[in-house]
Amino acid sequence: MMPGSLRIDPARLVARIERLGGIGALEGGGVCRLALTPSEKLGRDHLVAEMTALGLDVTVDAIGNIFGTRKARREGPAVLLGSHIDTVATGGLYDGALGVLAGLEVIATLNDAGVETELPIAVAAFTNEEGSRFAPDMLGSLVFVGGLHLQEALDIVSIDGKRLGDELTAIGYAGTGHGPKEIAAYFELHIEQGPILEDEKIGIGTVMGVQGISWTEITLNGRSSHAGTTPIRLRRDAGLAAARIAAGVGAFVREMGGDQVGTVGVLTLSPNLVNVVAQKAVMTVDLRNPDETLLKQAEARLAALIETVTDEENVTFETRSLARFEPVDFAPVLIDQVDETARALCLSTRRLFSGAGHDAQMIARIAPAAMIFVPSVNGISHNITEFTAAADLANGANVLLQVTLKQALP
Ligand code: GLV
Ligand code: MN
Ligand code: MN
Ligand code: MN
Repeated sequence: MMPGSLRIDPARLVARIERLGGIGALEGGGVCRLALTPSEKLGRDHLVAEMTALGLDVTVDAIGNIFGTRKARREGPAVLLGSHIDTVATGGLYDGALGVLAGLEVIATLNDAGVETELPIAVAAFTNEEGSRFAPDMLGSLVFVGGLHLQEALDIVSIDGKRLGDELTAIGYAGTGHGPKEIAAYFELHIEQGPILEDEKIGIGTVMGVQGISWTEITLNGRSSHAGTTPIRLRRDAGLAAARIAAGVGAFVREMGGDQVGTVGVLTLSPNLVNVVAQKAVMTVDLRNPDETLLKQAEARLAALIETVTDEENVTFETRSLARFEPVDFAPVLIDQVDETARALCLSTRRLFSGAGHDAQMIARIAPAAMIFVPSVNGISHNITEFTAAADLANGANVLLQVTLKQALP
């Protein structure tokens, strides 16, 4: 069979997604595999077993990234396919898992057809892509490309007060191996997580790049006092200040318009009681924009908002950057290759920017990288109802297979 006519097995791909989705499954659907928790360890064990069964040489690096490599005719730079298997606490079956499991499906298809490639193909699952438990997001791929020192990463403390390095050791994934030393090309298949492809009835999204991400944690310190007896003029209400900042973020984001988005995803008050003015508030603000200049403007507006509100509410504040990544452009040659490959498979394509962060944006620092998007039903993700139709999953995996072959079997 000519490699160009090879196709993945759609039912086998869906079965792979359902098997992994059964690990950390939530009642009522969806999954919880927060990074380096016991359920994520089980997901990792499962992945390693599947990689081994496919004959891949499995290595784990010091930050817990897992790599499975398929032998080739010659040693040389690898064609790397990857994503992540950690999830947010109320995640779906596809975010991340698709990119890794479609990589395995590509390997299985080549194994079945007895295709030997010129360059090795490797599949990667990067540690802590989501960033929900340990900030920043895309941490494993960031360390892999040298963007964050290993020791600094190991010392990061989780939202539940655990040191990353200790958690990694506890689940047995502080490895001594390493990923490919040289990468010819990196491809990441992912669900869109937004509404564009579905709205426009497009099969494949050719991803141009990823928008910039800015995460800030704000701690507001006021004074707890009696809710009934403290006159308004004497209050130092951290809860009210936090609410005003949250509303202010919503207002300036709407005013900026365009692609600017802003989210207050965490808002914790203490002591969090009905009749006590809040002494302390901890909140996060996630700002994103594909345009670095505009993202900087949004950050400046947030800083000014915090100054004004804390001054007026007589509370003090501290801010801490949890993540800051500039917008990233993918490799034009690979973007064109994804587009042409999809159209050769008679699939409709559209070029778009990614709203979510992805490991591909880190790998792009050291190697040509590109992404393939498939439609998300109702544009919903980071939600247990996240869904992509089997036919769309298969189309994406077939594009992944063919672009991989173009690189590995030139
Ligand atoms: C993380 O990957 C995000 O996009 O929030
Ligand atoms: Mn993802
Ligand atoms: Mn995600
Ligand atoms: Mn992501």
